Amino acid sequence: MNMRFEPSGPLRGRVTVPADKSISHRAAIIGAMAAEPVRVRNYLDAADTRSTLAAVQKVGAIVERRDGELVIRGCGLRNAIAPGEPIDVGNAGTLMRLLPGWLCFQQGASFELDGDESIRRRPVDRIAEPLSLMGARIEARDGRFPPFTVHGEALTGIDYELPVASAQVKSCVLLAGLVTDATTVTEPVPTRDHTERMLAAAGAPIDRSRTGGGGFRTTVGNTDELELGVVEVPGDPSSAAFLIAAGVLVRDSRLVLERVGVNWTRAGFLRILERMGAIVLADREPPGTFDPREPVADIDVRNAAIEATTVEAEEVPLAIDELPLVALLGCFAEGDTVVRGAGELRVKESDRIATVVEGLRGLGAEIEALPDGFVVTGTGRLRGGRLHSHGDHRLALLGAVAGLASETGVEVVGIEAAAVSYPRFADDVAGLIA
Ligand code: S3P
Repeated sequence: MNMRFEPSGPLRGRVTVPADKSISHRAAIIGAMAAEPVRVRNYLDAADTRSTLAAVQKVGAIVERRDGELVIRGCGLRNAIAPGEPIDVGNAGTLMRLLPGWLCFQQGASFELDGDESIRRRPVDRIAEPLSLMGARIEARDGRFPPFTVHGEALTGIDYELPVASAQVKSCVLLAGLVTDATTVTEPVPTRDHTERMLAAAGAPIDRSRTGGGGFRTTVGNTDELELGVVEVPGDPSSAAFLIAAGVLVRDSRLVLERVGVNWTRAGFLRILERMGAIVLADREPPGTFDPREPVADIDVRNAAIEATTVEAEEVPLAIDELPLVALLGCFAEGDTVVRGAGELRVKESDRIATVVEGLRGLGAEIEALPDGFVVTGTGRLRGGRLHSHGDHRLALLGAVAGLASETGVEVVGIEAAAVSYPRFADDVAGLIA
């Protein structure tokens, strides 16, 4: 399906963005691992997180909707049930990489996971390798792609250094580590820490220390039961980022985004925007904080002139899903905006270096791909045209924001991809146009 986004008048008003996708996935999975019922308020209602609810139900959890919240009646740590047919993860990479961290210690049970065409191109060797070191058995197509089967085994603890800065891989190993004497994951640079916070909230013994390089060493182990109680999911900073970018770029805009998650491990985009000279006010969490409760704040953003910036490797994981927007902002900034050390973009829902460069260039941007990022020469404007989502939600939403800020509008081809994280984006924008 195609949808046109015309050059927009000022965006003004208050808006509540969809609930956080990363935290919703974790609430469903850790809720399913818990022994006592877990109540989840503001669970994201979108395609990816519906896949997660269906998946946990398939392995034995019961999910009820009651008084506007979800009640998840879990299986307990060791009692997931093999469904006898594949678990469909749809388009959800986080589900595909986190769930095996639990399934891999369901001794004697096997689980097949599969998903859509895009998920079948996304690597799972990054989780298969550490889980195999722990004693689980994983069989994947060509050794690295879905569909794949997880055979549950007794696990032993490992001390694992992440070869890629990935919160999904870290989370998977930590979930598996819950039933070992001790499992340690070292990340060279910080990545989002929602799993660690939720495990701490659920009473798991979790220990964290800083590494010399600025990352963390996190150790878990010997957990009998998880008890989560109530999870309140904040607004998703990655979804908010699309409206923030629109607020910065569309002349005379002034927006307030309500109750957005401001966990410092997700706030890299706000720091990048600040360097670019954008006016974005939010009560943020100090870097380094580790609090089991996820912090929220209102974000107040207004239109302003911006200048170019450079994003280096250590900043990439804290803004990974917002980097396509950095490219768009770069088109309007004074100077050359550079993103480096972001090769991980190539294994997202699409190859986001290729699709962002091709997509924005088609709209008139001066942008070049690097092996691990891109360089954008700001011209202060963007013509407009057509942008293909390639089935990638962040591309679809990028095209929509580009249209609002463009001279002639943008037709987004494949807008339905946005449904995995932000199904009502076009309606939210319509409600903000003065
Ligand atoms: C996510 C981690 C990131 C991110 C993805 C969600 C998560 O992926 O891009 O959208 O919820 O843990 P990686 O861990 O592969 O970098």
